Amino acid sequence: MDLKKPRGTEDLFGAKAKEYIAISTIIRDVMSKYNFDEIITPVFESADLFKRGVGDLTDIVQKEMYEFLDRKGRSLALRPEGTAPVIRSVIENKLVQPENLPLKLFYIGKYYRYERPQIGRNREFNQCGVEVFGKKSPEADAEIITLAITILRSFGFKTNDLSIDLNYLISGKEKLEYISELKKSLLLISNLCDDCKNRIDTNILRVLDCKVDQDKLKSVPTMNDFMSQEDKDWLKVLVKLLNLIDIKTVLNPKLVRGLDYYTGMVFEIKSTHKTLASQSTLCGGGRYDKLLKQLGGPDVSGLGFGMGIERVLLDLDSMNIKLSPPKELDAYIIGLTPKAKQFSTMLLMMLRSDGLIADFDFQDRNIKSAFKQSEKLNARNIIIIGDNELKENVVVIKNQQTKRETKVVYNEIVKTIRGK
Ligand code: HAM
Repeated sequence: MDLKKPRGTEDLFGAKAKEYIAISTIIRDVMSKYNFDEIITPVFESADLFKRGVGDLTDIVQKEMYEFLDRKGRSLALRPEGTAPVIRSVIENKLVQPENLPLKLFYIGKYYRYERPQIGRNREFNQCGVEVFGKKSPEADAEIITLAITILRSFGFKTNDLSIDLNYLISGKEKLEYISELKKSLLLISNLCDDCKNRIDTNILRVLDCKVDQDKLKSVPTMNDFMSQEDKDWLKVLVKLLNLIDIKTVLNPKLVRGLDYYTGMVFEIKSTHKTLASQSTLCGGGRYDKLLKQLGGPDVSGLGFGMGIERVLLDLDSMNIKLSPPKELDAYIIGLTPKAKQFSTMLLMMLRSDGLIADFDFQDRNIKSAFKQSEKLNARNIIIIGDNELKENVVVIKNQQTKRETKVVYNEIVKTIRGK
């Protein structure tokens, strides 16, 4: 039997696992500064949640969702995204209460999409995301974009490494008018790709961000020409606020996002490097003021974003940025005889209970390879114990930085290793 990981998944171990932990620690640290609380929801939910939440006609639901029946015939899905599950939980647990608003939640977890794997695109991937409920203002939109940028800057991204696309999705009668004009214009274009042809009747706005037909779409009307004065004012304030804190955005009227729940501001943050090729979007999000009500909850506004952790890590790697500090031991113990080895085990426990990071040569290596091992583990001190040292009630400590060896009595060991 071929026991291999499924296509599009990754094992994280060694340096990669450490980078993943380090990135999660930084995210949690920034989130706590922005006063967000963590929420952890199941990796599978009823398939219906995503059909109703993300949209029955989106690629994510139609083509990419891992949907299955459980043993009782219930239709479930591995979560393809984080917003709908958080809303389900917020409604089910009645987390939206006047005294809780605005409710600011974040999550870090695994998500699943049946996509063609390539660099920066997996079938199982990690995403960190935020959702904010009950804050309906351009200031709230600016805070969310600022948060995403702050997180990326905390990893080491600089202004030039990132570009931010912004758009405002119109709704109501303006949207209906726009759709009718867009349809007229699209029907005049010959040989659109099959996806676009289908989308004209099912999900027309998605035609705008088709990668294949971009050249043919240059002359179609843009949504911004149909914006109401109120929407225009909102967008103007948002751009002004972002400019004030030196966040430059590019207005992209073709940015529609692949999920149906957005209303109002949407944004995507891309890497400006070539590392991720066509998967350069590190983060995407926006406002979804109708979704809570649509899923059976109170009429409360919402907004948020999701950030792909694998893409961020790949990009940081290309910039040679390491988030996890290199592994370092305070002390590595080498016992030269069976008696010394027994003593070493006791000493090891003592050092660890004193809060030091210590290890011991369990492999019966000769002294030369034990020294090599200590170098591999980046030990700052090597403690050497033989029968003579046991007789004298001392150990030899070699400081790897100064290369000095000193005989140390037992109750001075911790102090010497700490360098005090
Ligand atoms: P999304 O744009 O579908 O939005 O995903 C957010 C981010 O997840 C993407 O920008 C990308 O970095 C990463 N991502 C998506 N698919 C994959 C994949 N197959 N492999 C690796 N990384 C991937 C959402 O999921 C929304 N729920 C975001 C949101 C939250 N909007 C409002 N609140």
